Amino acid sequence: MKFFIDTANLAQIKEAQELGVLDGVTTNPSLMAKEGITGRNNILKHYVDICNIVDGDVSAEVISTDFKGMIKEGEELAELHEQIVVKVPMIKDGVKAIKYFADKGIRTNCTLVFSCGQALLAAKAGAAYVSPFIGRLDDISTDGLNLISEIRHIYDNYEFETQILAASVRHTMHVIDCAKIGADVMTGPLSAIEGLLKHPLTDSGLAKFLEDYKKGN
Ligand code: G3P
Repeated sequence: MKFFIDTANLAQIKEAQELGVLDGVTTNPSLMAKEGITGRNNILKHYVDICNIVDGDVSAEVISTDFKGMIKEGEELAELHEQIVVKVPMIKDGVKAIKYFADKGIRTNCTLVFSCGQALLAAKAGAAYVSPFIGRLDDISTDGLNLISEIRHIYDNYEFETQILAASVRHTMHVIDCAKIGADVMTGPLSAIEGLLKHPLTDSGLAKFLEDYKKGN
């Protein structure tokens, strides 16, 4: 299972990278705005900065909602760095754009996916990744993890190569449940990754080992 961090915060990306378990980064316009990154040139530069920190794929989202605009933007993003994956929304022109990019060898991440039908379309169009937003489904009393299971089942039926990127992951149990289901990738905040470290028996066990060592030395 790949671990992506879902942020545009360079310090957090560095921290996750230094932990040695980071496989990539996802961003979106809201996450960019949260870091105060505005203006096309600053945003493009920020993507390159992120690529220079991590080894894996970095999702960069188009803002256009029409086919031509998405193509223009996506090609510009893909040119920035070989690690860039163009993030395209699940709308009609987005599906067309994913197909266009797939034919040109440009990898895409189909975002804002909330149903199996949308995931099926993304795979048919040739998306490298599909991003079902599990936390946002949970927010409206719908089982986000169930969607991951259903997409896993559908993709396995037909051996689709599109990777299931569980997005809008909010906490450690989302990460663990996605791993049980067989999501290919999860993207979440640093807290969801570092939270996996924690267990009180580890802390008390280590304290006892160190205490006993001191007694004997
Ligand atoms: O990866 C998608 C993500 O950025 C959305 O997360 O927490 O805003 O639902 P959230």
